[in-house]
Amino acid sequence: MSGACFLVTGGAGYVGSHLVQALLARGDQVVVFDDLRQGHRAAVPSEAELVVASLSDRARLAEVFASRRFDAVFHFAALSLVGESMREPLRYCVENLSNSLTLAEAAVQAGCRRFVLSSTAALFGFPKHTPIDEAAEVAPASAYGESKLMVERGLHWADQVHGLRSACLRYFNAAGADPAGRIGEDHEPETHLIPLAIGAALGTRPPLTVFGTDYPTPDGTCIRDYVHVADLADAHIRVLERLEAGSCRYNVGSGTGYSVKQVIESVERIGGRPVPHGFGPRRAGDPAVLVASSEALRRDTGWSPRLGALDDIVRTAWAWHAAHPRGFDDRRPN
Ligand code: UFG
Repeated sequence: MSGACFLVTGGAGYVGSHLVQALLARGDQVVVFDDLRQGHRAAVPSEAELVVASLSDRARLAEVFASRRFDAVFHFAALSLVGESMREPLRYCVENLSNSLTLAEAAVQAGCRRFVLSSTAALFGFPKHTPIDEAAEVAPASAYGESKLMVERGLHWADQVHGLRSACLRYFNAAGADPAGRIGEDHEPETHLIPLAIGAALGTRPPLTVFGTDYPTPDGTCIRDYVHVADLADAHIRVLERLEAGSCRYNVGSGTGYSVKQVIESVERIGGRPVPHGFGPRRAGDPAVLVASSEALRRDTGWSPRLGALDDIVRTAWAWHAAHPRGFDDRRPN
């Protein structure tokens, strides 16, 4: 039992809610701050307090910070669709930067000195080398990636001037679901490969389109590094202690890449039925291969993925989607 108290923005969302479960399991107190535009009320367990508000509401934020002393802030709430960010780049940059720095400011004013940011591999754009370590050139290829880079830069200055220590975790492909089956992935719209492939197999979604078969990879489809959300949650908890030594940034992935075709095969293996699919052109902005080197995180915090194998990830995701064909049931009509 750790008995600490944490603020989790976006704690009703996909990755955030898995961290909330992990913190509660340690005996921590958790306040979730979420506007429920993307998050789900049902994803927040009753042991956590849920504040439904926008991060642009400074007064509400100040009230929450005044209500208790937080040991750290975990910041997940953000606009996070790469494609949408290329249609509305200014909204992404303005909203993600402004909300994040408003939150950082409130933390500083309240004397909270630890901040963990949900960042992204999208910072690396089209990387020149793989696996991608923290020394790789940062060159976002989308407004979404750019917005997270701007937040990282803002946090750098919050540390320099105010001593706000931050850990920026650049996730690769978050995937899977709570192994206990309580929560899982429920985005609307859904754009991610694994839930779309599972939905196609279950018949709850249309057949999958594979975006591009002419990439310079062994089977011609894109390769990604899928990391289980429970392992991601564990990384967040581990970097807290690391913050004692100063601000840090880590790439978080399993270190193994799987192609789109391999993901389809895994879903068929685990689900025991075919994934109806067809083939389409490349999706704009997709690099051929994105695989993380998480050596620094492993070395500094002892982290290693416990559900690193693709079949383990798909098994937990399949169980969630099969049991919850309409996700959390709180938004979609029957
Ligand atoms: N894919 C398909 N068909 C689909 C959906 C996806 O073939 O219907 C392919 C994509 O082209 C890609 C792979 O499956 O090659 C994975 O796509 P996802 O959309 O699941 O994930 P991305 O790799 O595009 O995105 C992830 C995160 C983003 C982050 C990005 C960094 O979800 O938040 O990595 O590059 F920004």
